[in-house]
Amino acid sequence: MSKLQLSLDASVQKGVFEIHLVLEGPSVLGGSVPREDLARAAGFTGKAGQVLVGYAEGLDDVVLYVGLGSEPDAEAFRAAGAQAMRSLAKDIARAQIVVGESSAGNVAALVEGAILGHYRYDALRGAGFDAEKTLPSISELAVVSADPELRPLFDRAVVVSSAQCLARDLINEHAATMTPERFSQVASEISQANGMECRIWDRATIEAEGLGGLMAVSRGSSVEPRFVKISYRPNSGSVEGTVALVGKGITFDSGGLSLKSGDGMMTMKTDMSGAAAVLAAMSTLRSLGIGVAVDGYMALTENMPSGSATKPGDVLVARNGKSIEVLNTDAEGRLVLADALSLAAEDGASEIIDLATLTGACVVALGREIAGVMGNSQTLVDAVLKSGERSGEPLWQLPLPERYKKHIESEIADMKNIGAPGAAGTLSAALLLQEFVAQVPWVHVDIAGPSRSEGDERYFRKGGTGFGVRTICEFLLAKQA
Ligand code: BES
Ligand code: ZN
Ligand code: ZN
Repeated sequence: MSKLQLSLDASVQKGVFEIHLVLEGPSVLGGSVPREDLARAAGFTGKAGQVLVGYAEGLDDVVLYVGLGSEPDAEAFRAAGAQAMRSLAKDIARAQIVVGESSAGNVAALVEGAILGHYRYDALRGAGFDAEKTLPSISELAVVSADPELRPLFDRAVVVSSAQCLARDLINEHAATMTPERFSQVASEISQANGMECRIWDRATIEAEGLGGLMAVSRGSSVEPRFVKISYRPNSGSVEGTVALVGKGITFDSGGLSLKSGDGMMTMKTDMSGAAAVLAAMSTLRSLGIGVAVDGYMALTENMPSGSATKPGDVLVARNGKSIEVLNTDAEGRLVLADALSLAAEDGASEIIDLATLTGACVVALGREIAGVMGNSQTLVDAVLKSGERSGEPLWQLPLPERYKKHIESEIADMKNIGAPGAAGTLSAALLLQEFVAQVPWVHVDIAGPSRSEGDERYFRKGGTGFGVRTICEFLLAKQA
């Protein structure tokens, strides 16, 4: 959806609308802010989030000042980029943003913010909708910087943020059309365009391959499930091992027979945000020149109630032969992930990272902005946490206590799909997942909170955020060295 074209320019072009970043306090970034005295006289202090439209030299040169705060970090630049895009007058189609002496890393964050802040989802608007009136009309943005170190970071920021917008598109499309089949078609197109192998299993194959978790969840739905595996192999100089990325792809979670409430169901088209993040991240690997092999696994189905749906009390056998008693059909994410994780381990992955909108309990614990991270290898957990820090996606580690395994003990099967009532629901979900990764180093990221934004804040839009794409890309980029 993002139609923002970005370019790098070494110097300011005359006649193109200028945006200037301003630090809070007496100093000015690179001394490049025109008429700073007037801006300050108008009450503009450079505080983060502040914007002012002013004049530069003559009355013809209108500029937009954007405040960065006093000690801006990458996140402040990301927010400023979005703020700049959203503050532009409707009739401005081209602009240049003057970044002064800002570090290349911060300018890259600004570029991310501009792309993410410019994003909106209008595909489902009616014929009378006038995009011109409501959109920021800007379609071209030049970043003015003479820093030679910026080029690679700039290109990377464009690729990664555009992928995050792709994830948002996939998430925001309604479940009426974003079915497992449609998702798998998009996956196939993206794979083809990027020289990746894409294997798609339909219902019959899913059953024949023993994906008992995915089968159990899809049983109640009249749309076909899909299991997608995408394989990326580097062109040359491959780092050892294969990273498996696993995504929960519930294209609609009604809860199944353990039906959700009306309110609880309202946003459940976004329950495929994990799979969307995996697919979107994989779409960048060739462009980023990632040097490690990556396999993406996406388990796609609706979770619906019907006469053929899985019933509380039913027991299924997952791909690795372990049985799960389904006591609540709304705890379906872990069932489809059980199969996907088993396959990743079976295929010989050296590391597994899964992303899933898995538990409401994680939203209670960490809120809407922070994802929960759990894993069986502290080394891998640390690497993922570091990637989150570098990408500006907040992650927080939660424990995987051995002692809580008793919470998922079943009387009749190897485990049950719910934990103790009201106690550590995020951990019991992760403890179940752990049963399917064998001995492979594995990290689970519960993105139930940050996968969706409740409003247009910073560089987010209300709806799918594409959370996780930047962290995965950072994680894989770090393997280059
Ligand atoms: N998709 C939901 C989790 C979720 C909730 C994601 C809110 C985003 C926002 C998941 O399938 C679910 O329903 N989990 C249950 C598990 C419970 C029945 C053990 C939950 O969290 O309530
Ligand atoms: Zn559910
Ligand atoms: Zn779900």
